[in-house]
Amino acid sequence: MPVTLLSSKPASSLPVYTVEADSLDACDAPKDAIAWARANGFAGAAGRVLTIPGKNGAVAGAFFGLGQPDAASPLDTGALARHLPEGDWHFAAAPKDAELATLGLMLGSYAFTRYGKKPRSALRFAVPEGVDAGRVERLAGGSVLARDLINTPAGDMGPDALEAATRALASEHGATMAVTAGEDLLTENLPMIHAVGRAAEAAPRLLDLRWGREAAPKVTLVGKGVCFDTGGLDIKPAAGMLLMKKDMGGAANVLGLASMLMAAKLDIRLRVLIPAVENAVAGNAFRPGDVLTSRKGLTVEIGNTDAEGRLVLADAMALADEEEPELLIDMATLTGAARVALGPDVPPFYTDDEALAGALARASEAVVDPLWRMPLWKPYLSRLDSKIADINNVSLDGFAGSPIAGLFLGRFVEKAKSWAHFDIYGWNPVDRPYAPVGGEAQGIRAIERVLTERYGK
Ligand code: BES
Ligand code: MN
Ligand code: ZN
Repeated sequence: MPVTLLSSKPASSLPVYTVEADSLDACDAPKDAIAWARANGFAGAAGRVLTIPGKNGAVAGAFFGLGQPDAASPLDTGALARHLPEGDWHFAAAPKDAELATLGLMLGSYAFTRYGKKPRSALRFAVPEGVDAGRVERLAGGSVLARDLINTPAGDMGPDALEAATRALASEHGATMAVTAGEDLLTENLPMIHAVGRAAEAAPRLLDLRWGREAAPKVTLVGKGVCFDTGGLDIKPAAGMLLMKKDMGGAANVLGLASMLMAAKLDIRLRVLIPAVENAVAGNAFRPGDVLTSRKGLTVEIGNTDAEGRLVLADAMALADEEEPELLIDMATLTGAARVALGPDVPPFYTDDEALAGALARASEAVVDPLWRMPLWKPYLSRLDSKIADINNVSLDGFAGSPIAGLFLGRFVEKAKSWAHFDIYGWNPVDRPYAPVGGEAQGIRAIERVLTERYGK
């Protein structure tokens, strides 16, 4: 990672002076530095970075604009990671949200370099007093893992590569891994994962990672791992297909979350289930009008092969549900409708557990990881009625597309003590100081916070 956190400040470290809008006078930088800032029109505008010249062309420090109080994000410190020259740095005075400010540095330093783009400059940054560097590194590490997995195109991140990435994470943390692939999905009674993925060159599979003390509270994460979503026979138009390498964004996010939880050594029995498939077009593809029998035994009429995520999740979640976990969380790039409702930045989540909903809402705000609760409105379940099967995978009109997808998943969860579903976008469409355009971690820092409150030491 281009930003390395230092627990103590080296003697050579350069100061960053943070300045709120129009408050240059309140800054305790040297007088000549303040004069330099003034001469350069620096008045503390949000995200602005101005380096201070030192002797012989060296850099003596930098100013960083915080903007109007409470208008900017504490993560906007990411701008520093992009604009400061290489070297050792520290905040002259600890910023208000010091942990988030430090995290912003790490998130802002991210670049996707797999195909030759340059990494950002290597900075070493002394952590402000009171900030737990290890914690910030865990949060950044999980987010970067999610970003990298999503950014990698489907040609290099098919079911095989997603399995390899999951294995790598498992071995890093001493977790165990089991994989059920190809025809074995049929003998192991995971028929909908098989049906959705069988038309692709790479075999469909279910990845099953386990970690932690067997008797600890069971927390199970399920992530949609559709490595590419053509829509299947109900094929997507070009514009809708363009970004579909990110349809494993749920899997990427639960892996990022799992890495945070395992690195923190939470006392939980963690399980991560990822149905890894490609929703492809071929002669053996599943069809509109087909009826699939799910793991749970419910028969599902296929109204649209493009509503594939809920099918693969349903079998994975039915499996998860069988061991009655304390908490079942699923994350998925499940519907375009969620984007219509809340846009790309605010993923809706669904749960009937009021305590969990409250904890998630509070954590979301505290760690600046947007989430918004939407309802599992039970009367809408009838929109999924089928004339020939127990349930259809889509409703006839597009109304309430995201809640109805959530209700569909809920049919496959019975025994879990608590369940929450996150309909994420997994993509950042506009450049931000702490996030370049591309794959994005969404909701996992908020979930991490809730789980740490519950199960942390
Ligand atoms: N992966 C898509 C959902 C999606 C599309 C998420 C664009 C983010 C951006 C999912 O598999 C899908 O195609 N859903 C359909 C469901 C419809 C057929 C009921 C959708 O949202 O259009
Ligand atoms: Mn689809
Ligand atoms: Zn999809």
